[in-house]
Amino acid sequence: MANVHVTIDDRALEVPEGSTILEAARQNDIHIPTLCYLKELDPRASFRMCIVEVEGARTFMPSCATKVREGMVVHTNTDAVRAKRKLTLELIMAHHPVDCHHCLRIGNTKEQDLDLWFCEMCFFCDCVRDGICELQALNREYHVDQLPFTIEGDRYEEDCSLGSVTRNPDKCIKCRRCVDVCNDIQTVHNLAYIGRGRQARVASALDKPMAESPCVRCGRCVDVCPTGAVYMQEHIDDMLDDAHAYGTHTVGMVSSSILPDLEKLCHLESGSLDIHRVIAGLVKEGVDCVVSEEQVIGENQALAEDLIEQADGVAIISNSFAVKNFVHEYFADIEDKVSFYPSVQQTFTDLAKRKLAAEFGWDADSVKTVVFTAGNENGAEAHELGSADFSMNAREVYRTFKRTGVDLGRIKPTDALKQTRDVARTFGAATAPVAFNFEKAPETMRIAGKKVAIAHNLGQCRALLEGVKEGTNEFDVIRLCA
Ligand code: SF4
Ligand code: SF4
Ligand code: SF4
Ligand code: FES
Repeated sequence: MANVHVTIDDRALEVPEGSTILEAARQNDIHIPTLCYLKELDPRASFRMCIVEVEGARTFMPSCATKVREGMVVHTNTDAVRAKRKLTLELIMAHHPVDCHHCLRIGNTKEQDLDLWFCEMCFFCDCVRDGICELQALNREYHVDQLPFTIEGDRYEEDCSLGSVTRNPDKCIKCRRCVDVCNDIQTVHNLAYIGRGRQARVASALDKPMAESPCVRCGRCVDVCPTGAVYMQEHIDDMLDDAHAYGTHTVGMVSSSILPDLEKLCHLESGSLDIHRVIAGLVKEGVDCVVSEEQVIGENQALAEDLIEQADGVAIISNSFAVKNFVHEYFADIEDKVSFYPSVQQTFTDLAKRKLAAEFGWDADSVKTVVFTAGNENGAEAHELGSADFSMNAREVYRTFKRTGVDLGRIKPTDALKQTRDVARTFGAATAPVAFNFEKAPETMRIAGKKVAIAHNLGQCRALLEGVKEGTNEFDVIRLCA
């Protein structure tokens, strides 16, 4: 592709033709804030947080939706641009609950009195996204510390009906990311944008509670939501009660998927947190022994390989809770062609309650399992199938550590290796799990002469299953992930 010449913030740059101003800036480490934009989804350009000044243009341009042109001169951070972005945030906050802005602990109970943004002392902030919220981060960046506007409007009940994926419409800023991911990528079509003007909001199918909707509990809407409007229900107190209960043996499994969020929450440099520090922290927290997910995956993969070997014809395999729900909802007629094997979480719980309990001489009923992962699907599976006693995300781990003063920046990783030495003997070899992506086409490869397709999202699962249904499938092995 040809390049074009542009100037961004006085830097002469050569960038690929067809890129947006935002892409060109990011490729060159120039910061432009965004709110509705997600690089994998089509730009909605709803909030215009990403506006820039383009010389010769009569208005500010949304950088996420404006393509570069030869000779274009762009200013990303002028006073006028910053003032407009701040106004945008103030207008968003005019009808937004301010749970993370005021704090009873310091006697600051007036919603208009927003001097304290982020209290390092506190672990009881009301909002589940406190510390990892994109809106909160932008408010800090733009010093939105007063609320000049207030917009009265309807308030809605939280929808906790699933016990896992939970929606809080009052914290929704209507960026539509969840709608796009649920419809365009996952093809579940559960979420929709309904109503007009101030009444506009995101609702689940037929505006029914989530538990009565076709939601398959993949949790991808939680992943993309920039605020606390969709989240996984937390179980921090119950987990701690069990971890400290007399006669209970709590066994944890940590996935490295929680590390990026934990680093953000703990203000650590990206890539600096070692999983063994987290393991050490959890052991200090009262979890009797902790393993990493990598120690269990080998055992789990063996189950998958057995299924492939035993398959008569195409082997369609999955260990995903959300895929199981998806197949049941949309492909009930070929449900029996899909071989489901236990998730890594189920395998871990089985190993912990059976092998590990026997090894340590514990009664299997006294063993409680807790999985620490960013995978939201795990939380839903634990809640509905009991495949683990608890599944906790990075924020829950962070808040647990804050309560008891575990400092991940200082804890010695070697402590953890010593603590888990016995466990490492019991569990299998490490194999990386499949990561979700936003692509339309599945990943394909050839292994031992077999044509293999791996779906990294439910849209890809749909395409592969339709091929099976219509008789056009060309693969010997299909692995379905959500
Ligand atoms: S969603 Fe974000 S900005 Fe809103 S209360 Fe929660 S942390 Fe604060
Ligand atoms: S959990 Fe998945 S299926 Fe359910 S609403 Fe969110 S994206 Fe859609
Ligand atoms: S629920 Fe979250 S992702 Fe969905 S529109 Fe609202 S803010 Fe955006
Ligand atoms: S990020 Fe560009 S308009 Fe929202």
